[in-house]
Amino acid sequence: MPPYGIVSFVGRAAELARLDAELDEVRAGSPRIVLVDGQPGIGKTALVRHFLGRSPGLTALWASGEQNESRLSYGTVDQLYRTDAVPADPLEVGAGLLEMLGDLQDRGELVVVVDDAHWADIASLHAITFALRRLRADRIMAIVIVRDPADHHLPEGLRRMLAAESTLRISLAGLDVEEVQGLSETPLPLRVASRLRAHTRKSAPCPCSARTGARRASRRSRVPAAGASFVRDAGAVPPCRL
Ligand SMILES: Nc1ncnc2c1ncn2[C@@H]1O[C@H](COP(=O)(O)OP(=O)(O)OP(=O)(O)O)[C@@H](O)[C@H]1O
Ligand SMILES: [Mg+2]
Repeated sequence: MPPYGIVSFVGRAAELARLDAELDEVRAGSPRIVLVDGQPGIGKTALVRHFLGRSPGLTALWASGEQNESRLSYGTVDQLYRTDAVPADPLEVGAGLLEMLGDLQDRGELVVVVDDAHWADIASLHAITFALRRLRADRIMAIVIVRDPADHHLPEGLRRMLAAESTLRISLAGLDVEEVQGLSETPLPLRVASRLRAHTRKSAPCPCSARTGARRASRRSRVPAAGASFVRDAGAVPPCRL
């Protein structure tokens, strides 16, 4: 499981409030499925890590799909549930996973995160879908993070579950101007933050490029007008993790 908490996390108050409300439902004994989606680098993983980091006492299991490993059967489910002899049938693996989740939630609320589900192996996705579809009165919150919930790599059953009315969908957009201001160690003037936001929305609408821009802008106390110099700088912005 990755370390939780990002020291410089900013904003996303509405999304965090929605996640908190879902967690209250889970505490009351109603399992919940949450979909977090959005473009690469928009802050999906950061949001969920931050949510978990500010809810001490929660038990959380975290698995993530990996682009290079999407052909490794059960590579993702194995991060949640380890057995010595993995059965070949995804439904059997799903049943085992369901039993394990049931045992864990006896000890308190449980959050299961499947990050980058679009890169998870198909066998794992079938097994996870099987288990999540059978949650009844469990105190379990499942958070599925994907870039595009309509991605055809995702099995139809999972896409249907993610599109269901009972699933909470949190689609992330770029940070707003005040949030961009918060990314800088030194306060950015509103005018500078607005221009930076407009720029990062156009080229790469993700918080990490906004943060890099904010750091540079605060060093120079200005963001170049929507002209050549900032565009050149933007080219040097390190890419988001893809
Ligand atoms: N609200 C935020 N406050 C501060 N930094 C943020 C925020 N959201 C994201 N970041 C930073 O932006 C970068 C990209 O965020 P993150 O990895 O969460 O994106 P992602 O949507 O999960 O991307 P991917 O689809 O590639 O997995 C990270 O360095 C992260 O720390
Ligand atoms: Mg991510």
